[in-house]
Amino acid sequence: MPRLAFGGDYNPDQWDRDVWREDVRLMRRAGVNLVSLGIFSWSWIEPDQDRFDFSGLDEVIALLHEGGVSVDLATPSASPPPWFSEAYPDALFVDHLGRRLGHGSRQGFCPSSPAYRRRTAVVAARLARRYGEHPAVVMWHVGNELGGYNAHCHCPTTAEAFRTWLRARHGDLDGLNRAWGTAFWSQRYSAWSQVRVPGSAPGRLNPAQQLDHYRFASDELLACYRWERDIIRRRSPGRPVTTNFMAGTFKWVDYCRWGPEVDLVTNDHYLTAADPEAHTGLAFSADLSRGIAGGRPWLLMEHSTSAVQWQPRNTAKRPGEMLRNSLAHIARGSDGACFFQWRQSDSGVEKWHSAMLPHGGESTRIWQEVVQLGAALGRIGEVAGSTVAGEVALLWDYENYWALEMGGRPSVDLGYAAEAEAWHREVWRQGVVCDVVPATASTDVLSRYRLLLLPAHYLATPETVRALTAYVHAGGHLVVGPFSGLVDRDDRLHPGPYPGALRELLGLTVDEFLPLRENTTVTLDNGLTGRVWAEAVHPADPVGAVRTAVDARFADGPAAGGPALLSRRAGTGLVRYAATRFEGASLRALLAGALDGAGVGSTAPGAGDGVEVVRRRAQDGRSWLFVLNHTEDAAEVVCGGVELLSDTAVAGRLTVGPGGVAVVRESGPPDAG
Ligand code: GLA
Ligand code: GLA
Repeated sequence: MPRLAFGGDYNPDQWDRDVWREDVRLMRRAGVNLVSLGIFSWSWIEPDQDRFDFSGLDEVIALLHEGGVSVDLATPSASPPPWFSEAYPDALFVDHLGRRLGHGSRQGFCPSSPAYRRRTAVVAARLARRYGEHPAVVMWHVGNELGGYNAHCHCPTTAEAFRTWLRARHGDLDGLNRAWGTAFWSQRYSAWSQVRVPGSAPGRLNPAQQLDHYRFASDELLACYRWERDIIRRRSPGRPVTTNFMAGTFKWVDYCRWGPEVDLVTNDHYLTAADPEAHTGLAFSADLSRGIAGGRPWLLMEHSTSAVQWQPRNTAKRPGEMLRNSLAHIARGSDGACFFQWRQSDSGVEKWHSAMLPHGGESTRIWQEVVQLGAALGRIGEVAGSTVAGEVALLWDYENYWALEMGGRPSVDLGYAAEAEAWHREVWRQGVVCDVVPATASTDVLSRYRLLLLPAHYLATPETVRALTAYVHAGGHLVVGPFSGLVDRDDRLHPGPYPGALRELLGLTVDEFLPLRENTTVTLDNGLTGRVWAEAVHPADPVGAVRTAVDARFADGPAAGGPALLSRRAGTGLVRYAATRFEGASLRALLAGALDGAGVGSTAPGAGDGVEVVRRRAQDGRSWLFVLNHTEDAAEVVCGGVELLSDTAVAGRLTVGPGGVAVVRESGPPDAG
């Protein structure tokens, strides 16, 4: 593997042979060292069932090898060819209304289909046998963004697979009926054949059934991945196998559970063009990728050199933005920056999606910036393998994401992902790196943090509550947002007054949830403003000498006079509870207080709003400070060492121009920040 990977998806089957040589020449020119090859090439290498033609791929891999470009070789399972749909119509995806969809796009298959698994095994085995020991092939890329379009199939095969999965989870029908609370609305099952994938129904669907369905669907996709991975591993030992995630964008795959299944976590990230501060969303996705990777380096497998083609308004990146985006991912632990795709397509769905080599070729601004980026990555190669560790972590959990957002809750305005991203953004704004860590992390992992954030943790398992309690008792600080701790894995209420599972740790009870009308606010007596939500809260009777403090009260609204912010010492730690939902300046104030209380400061105090400063550290004690100036003014950062991009010494103070970037190898013992 290259030190810092630089390259992109390479789809030579879209081009004539003479273009391939040109591609490799230009890749060398730009410093490309890794391409993800053949992601959608099934119909190229197996034009008809069992008729294989590897001549093109042989030639391309040889050319890349000659040119010193390493190959992340893909299995083509993301896009079965038309012959597959014709031969196996039962393998086509069925939507929630029971309509079997046709081919003509990609990912048109049912993840539970035995025919799909059989044919992906054949092609993966052929590829791995042919290229498994090829010196150019340094990594394997299974499929592409699994479940991006077809996570929830509703065909009969899927229903049978779902029942098998449910038997393993719940044992017998009694177990299933209990878990799903089927006494409600007369849903008791008397035979397994009655159990279906929740899809269409005239009214609302059973929430516990839906949760199980989401878990099952994520597991089925994972099974597709493992199936191919294991076939490759046997024939290509020693090469990492992975599949590209969409951490922070895609809801239906539980990447926290998938992380340990890949040899290297890789992530795809695309900016939300409509968001002027989309770089904070980038940071969230990168921090989550790192959390899924257990803090180890990961790889940005795809982003864009400029515009995408699938948002309503696909704004182009401004000069310098691609470099800034790439270094922002690397700052947060990516060992490289790769793109979709190498050469911009001249036909097909994505021809208006930017690429490393644009339609206009070498004269374009984008190409010039790609060449500059390649050179920049060459200069900072020494950071590869180093890691990033925040002192604050936000706990992230896909089951909570699904459970809170499935509808039928007190307010649609309290979303899981939006809350997490808003909290993370406000920590970002304070110059603090916030790890995003699976909520199932062990007490050991949690104990590395001074502060944990739990913005909307509706579904609480006994394991999480135990880990959090141990964490706080051992001195950790914890902030919990409203509507947390209420239900178990089956969306069943924890017993006793709200907030069930967290009642004891938080030292309070909630009498009633009091969601607000749209676009209305509540005011607190400390001047903060809440939105969306209020609760009637009571501090618990003191446990021993420990009393729950009321730090602010609602000054108006449905909970007027009642506590809005509470805190309580537990062991040597501290928990805080917010009984309303904050945003903007009020959220900033809440989190600033929590950071301060936990003794967490900015990586670069005084760097200013919109200036991102992140430190990577190597085990040997070296450290690098990444400075990314997202503003239109020059920024000053206090640091010392060597700025690697310009190879200049920095003595105490570094100025980074508007939109500019810097990477400083710090001198002397790295400080504690
Ligand atoms: C209707 C139905 C009830 C219940 C209520 C509250 O009135 O008859 O069964 O669903 O709405 O939602
Ligand atoms: C995703 C896919 C790519 C491409 C890009 C850009 O990340 O993995 O194949 O479609 O989006 O749209």
